[in-house]
Amino acid sequence: MLVSAREMLVKAREGKYAVGQFNINNLEWTKAILLTAQENNSPVILGVSEGAGKYMGGYDTIVGMVNGLIKGLNITVPVALHLDHGSYEGAKQTIEAGFSSVMFDGSHYPFEENVAKTKELVEIAHSKGISVEAEVGSIGGEEDGVVGAGEVADPQECKAISELGIDFLAAGIGNIHGKYPENWTGLNFEVLGKINQATGSMPLVLHGGSGIPEEMIKEAISLGVAKINVNTECQVVFAEATRKYIEEGKDLQGKGFDPRKLLAPGVDAIKACVKEKMELFGSVNQA
Ligand code: G3H
Ligand code: ZN
Repeated sequence: MLVSAREMLVKAREGKYAVGQFNINNLEWTKAILLTAQENNSPVILGVSEGAGKYMGGYDTIVGMVNGLIKGLNITVPVALHLDHGSYEGAKQTIEAGFSSVMFDGSHYPFEENVAKTKELVEIAHSKGISVEAEVGSIGGEEDGVVGAGEVADPQECKAISELGIDFLAAGIGNIHGKYPENWTGLNFEVLGKINQATGSMPLVLHGGSGIPEEMIKEAISLGVAKINVNTECQVVFAEATRKYIEEGKDLQGKGFDPRKLLAPGVDAIKACVKEKMELFGSVNQA
């Protein structure tokens, strides 16, 4: 059964670890992440961007697939199905479809409008036991058509948004979607510290989790980060493993062209990547 992400993140923040949000694109991706969570006795959040939602045939298809896999694979660890970087409309649609958590990315609206829309969505979501993530500032780079300027969050705006009844808060602190450039100056821990103080015990969310050095991840967790989003790294290892399989001509040997064989190295690579992140974030054996 799908669960809201609220309880798992409150527990993570208290226990000083983070739960990984891993974005999904298809059945193989979803299966790989769910199996890794189960094998490591870790809670997990499946992230779905609006672009990935369209690619997979709509939100109803995704809810059906995820619920089916939880049952069919005997997944007993807590799993949240979360809309990632959702629009106002997308949040309403996923709540209707049966997601257990939504992110409303209202950071591009004027502050007052972001507040009004966030409040409305919190009311609708909470009436159904669904958790809500909001964003202040913006995450640099681009993910699935969502482009951010990388504007560092204002701790006072974070405080105001955190008081609207949301369950967890994403704040721009120099984090970037996709690969980090060579000249990246790192996460802004001074601002994160202030946001942590201003927002009390609110679980904080770190987007752009691919490629952030270990020490920075640990420091972020010590300053209230309880959810870390990872997408690009899974995509990169999947592509590399699939390319290797084809370049070695394995698709030409025996029944190597069978899609189940062709996709298997990529699935194994995702599983290894997710396991590594769960160990780094400290969520292993926290289910
Ligand atoms: O919302 C999802 C992410 O923030 C993932 O970022 O692709 O840089 O790992 P990433
Ligand atoms: Zn993100």
